Amino acid sequence: MRNPIIGGNWKMNKGTPSEAIEMLEELISLVKKIDSVDIVIVPPFTVLFSAIQTVKNTNIMVGAQNMYYEEKGAFTGEVSPVFLKELGCKYVILGHSERRDIFNESDDLINKKLKKALKAGLNPIVCIGEHLEERETGRTKDVIENQFKLTFKDLKSEELDRVTIAYEPIWAIGTGKTATPEQAEEIHIFIRELIATIYGKNTAETVRIQYGGSIKPTNAKEIFKKENIDGGLVGGASLQSKSLYEIIKAAEESVNQ
Ligand code: PGA
Repeated sequence: MRNPIIGGNWKMNKGTPSEAIEMLEELISLVKKIDSVDIVIVPPFTVLFSAIQTVKNTNIMVGAQNMYYEEKGAFTGEVSPVFLKELGCKYVILGHSERRDIFNESDDLINKKLKKALKAGLNPIVCIGEHLEERETGRTKDVIENQFKLTFKDLKSEELDRVTIAYEPIWAIGTGKTATPEQAEEIHIFIRELIATIYGKNTAETVRIQYGGSIKPTNAKEIFKKENIDGGLVGGASLQSKSLYEIIKAAEESVNQ
């Protein structure tokens, strides 16, 4: 049994302590009774400390949106996995399409970050997904397979067990266009089969694969009902405590369905 995981990726929003704490305090009281969903809030670096303090002794965990692969040194502007772990982060998002497309992050760079995140004891959420043009030209599965093989290169199965994969079709991120539950499930099955081929059936059954791309309270239930979809990575709808709570509830219901 895989527990669903809901990540709230705030991106470059709510980066001041007052707004982050206000939202988290609302969320804490809303999600008190949720016990079968892993809830991870991923705020900007500037409020990681405040967020970690605020959610102490609750069922909410905190993650970072990015990191560098070195532990320390002359890397102006970068943040080390060791710092994040020490601070109390449990998760880190790696290879988000905004990092890949806007900041030119390559599969090779993400692979290096992934290994160091695992070494530091963080749980990585690794994003993969195709562009619209790749989907329209029938290349989705090739793109996913290629990203998978390069991003997870040389990873051992006990390491992959600790990774959450986020399938995020890029054309669905922040666009209001969601993949249909069937389109998402098809790729989740494909990723699970890839894992089975490379790492064996047990690992394929254990690894969580969440969906991301315009998840909202109105579509979450249908998406999370799918057998191979283990929750979601939520951007826009994670900025309001009520809409995020509705999405978390939909994930909880999918466990008891
Ligand atoms: P969105 O973002 O929910 O706003 O589409 C998802 C993501 O980027 O992870």
